[in-house]
Amino acid sequence: MKNSMRSISRRRAATVFLTAAATLGGGLGWLIAPAGTLADDAGKPILIGHYGSLTGAEATFGKSTSNGIKLALKEFNAAGGLNGRPIELREYDTKGDPKEAGTVVTRLVASDKVTAVLGEVASSLSLAGAPICQEHGVPMITPSSTNPRVTKVGDMIFRVCFIDAFQGFACARFAVDRNAKRVATLYDQSSAYSEGLARDFKRAITKLGGEVPSEQRYKAGDNDFTAQLVAIRGTNPDMIFIPGYYTDVGNIAIQARRLGISCPLLGGDGWDSDQLAKIGGEAIEGAFYSNHYAAQDETPKVQDFIRKYKAEFGDIPDGLAALGYDAAKLLFDAMKRAKSLEGKDLAAAIAATRDFDAVTGNVTIGPDRNAVKSAVIVQMKNGERTMVARVEPDQAKE
Ligand code: PHE
Repeated sequence: MKNSMRSISRRRAATVFLTAAATLGGGLGWLIAPAGTLADDAGKPILIGHYGSLTGAEATFGKSTSNGIKLALKEFNAAGGLNGRPIELREYDTKGDPKEAGTVVTRLVASDKVTAVLGEVASSLSLAGAPICQEHGVPMITPSSTNPRVTKVGDMIFRVCFIDAFQGFACARFAVDRNAKRVATLYDQSSAYSEGLARDFKRAITKLGGEVPSEQRYKAGDNDFTAQLVAIRGTNPDMIFIPGYYTDVGNIAIQARRLGISCPLLGGDGWDSDQLAKIGGEAIEGAFYSNHYAAQDETPKVQDFIRKYKAEFGDIPDGLAALGYDAAKLLFDAMKRAKSLEGKDLAAAIAATRDFDAVTGNVTIGPDRNAVKSAVIVQMKNGERTMVARVEPDQAKE
């Protein structure tokens, strides 16, 4: 035991030495590097990055995630940080735009030289940022992007949430359990998330003996959904599945009700925003969506988190806040276990995460760098999000 500890710390010192030598370059610098660097590092902040939509049509995604990360950071630093070194957060706004996401992720990894990156929420934006992190060898953890392609970008890219193959199943299972076998879909063709989830839902409901009588498309930011909704109305479905983000979904719900469509509406995690009820109003009442967490969950872990979050920010956290908190905590945990904070070592420590006790459920990072977790189904009741069902990963295997 003692021997192995000694060899680890020797290895660690060697890594620091090499890093310092590389940073300081030639000349006298590297001669004084080992001792100097070790002393310098003590107490020196460790910089991590977050990229998220802090403004724009998905602004609550970025803001909630940011709050969750900041709460985790505050707790970690208050408890002494990483062996006395505080963690510092550098955060940039993607404005919900994939191009902007690419720009700010480049800034984080190339100019700010962050140790790790948290973000994005939207899968299309994570798909823009991930290749840049991968190329620079900087680990990235997306708290909430569910499209399977995100972590396939490479071995530096992780997530702490389930993927859409499971989310599609959870929604289909719920629909069929409610006797909705004919479910039309209306999805955003400009979004990797929306398009993929519509496909996963169709596959799952077909397998469960249901069908998709109409498949319609829109583009984020569209104002008029009449043509698609009229086509859907013509097939008289039991439910309509709309895997989009909350701003579009609120508008779609209003137009659907105006066109006399009265069947229940169903969606995915992209609905999770306090803005959904504000935009959709009466039209979204009674609608269902799948999510990563519900505030009504009685487990002490969840209730404890809600209490701390409320004390800090004044409102009840949504799923994004919980996932942001979990992603940050999991990263800090991996930093503690990592051989060094070099990208490769840190990625290895993240990949080795087993049974991490997170607010949104236990996280074990699998060989595909994804997490396997349960989903909750939430219903909009009097403008509030109310948990009505839970779908477990095992159910998808039946
Ligand atoms: N899963 C969505 C995506 O991949 C993002 C999202 C997660 C939105 C959770 C809201 C809540 O694009």
